[in-house]
Amino acid sequence: MGRFEGRTAVVSGAAGGIGRACAVLLADEGARVAVTDIAAEGVRETMELITARGGRAAAYPADITSGSAVRDVVAAAEHELGPVTLTVAAAGIMRNGPFLELSEDGWDSTMAVNLKGVFLLFQEVARRASAHGGGALTAISSVAGRGARPTSADYAASKAGVISLVRSAAQALAADQVRVNAVCPGVVDTEMTQAIHRERAVLDGITPEESYARQVAKIPLGRTVSPAEVAETVAFLLSPAASYITAQAVNVCGGLEMD
Ligand SMILES: NC(=O)c1ccc[n+]([C@@H]2O[C@H](COP(=O)([O-])OP(=O)(O)OC[C@H]3O[C@@H](n4cnc5c(N)ncnc54)[C@H](O)[C@@H]3O)[C@@H](O)[C@H]2O)c1
Repeated sequence: MGRFEGRTAVVSGAAGGIGRACAVLLADEGARVAVTDIAAEGVRETMELITARGGRAAAYPADITSGSAVRDVVAAAEHELGPVTLTVAAAGIMRNGPFLELSEDGWDSTMAVNLKGVFLLFQEVARRASAHGGGALTAISSVAGRGARPTSADYAASKAGVISLVRSAAQALAADQVRVNAVCPGVVDTEMTQAIHRERAVLDGITPEESYARQVAKIPLGRTVSPAEVAETVAFLLSPAASYITAQAVNVCGGLEMD
């Protein structure tokens, strides 16, 4: 029997990358999974992938920065798939550029997706989970939230904000038996990482391959992490095996960060 048999989870950013890997793993382990993303085609593909593996999923294309859209997604998930008690907040965006050229609009959109989006999803799922006797919420932060990122200050600040939000929400929701944690990946093999190195290569006057190789050279384990490996830590934190873990941010980074 899977770890999430009989449970319903909402996964944002589920059109690809880490969000998709989390959705697939939770479904493989018995959860009914509501997958949501602004990328409508990708999120439907994730639903089809889960269904083809014998799992149960429903796709809800939506913008995570809209409170009413998030409320509709969680309500529809509960209506179609059963009581919602688990969530993974994985939607995120990142751009690289000189600090002095970071625009007000760029700052606002990063904060809206990466920080407000987590807040909106957490609050809506927590309302349901509290009413159902408990649950678990996990956000994908980043090791970028632990330190400085001179060419993506908005991103690093948003991810530090996610760690802070997780701590506050965990304390606020503990009495309702809702656990809240963050996972901080290092360098993950996803489209986001490829895009980052295309942008950094321009800034540094090197090729995207050189930019990528420079970053990998800094990782003690000597390689990037797969979305499936990140999903394993997310699933652990959502599972009963993590029943006493809340308000934590766990690095999954091959030794890149230690705090
Ligand atoms: N790739 C990495 O190296 C890395 C490292 C640390 C943390 N992360 C974080 O992991 C999470 C997943 O990233 P990924 O690497 O899988 O990249 P990804 O680009 O594959 O996934 C991000 C998803 O978020 C979705 N999204 C963007 N804006 C949205 C919006 N307004 N509403 C709903 N969905 C929206 C995108 O469509 C995309 O499917 C992100 O929060 C990212 O910041 C990634």
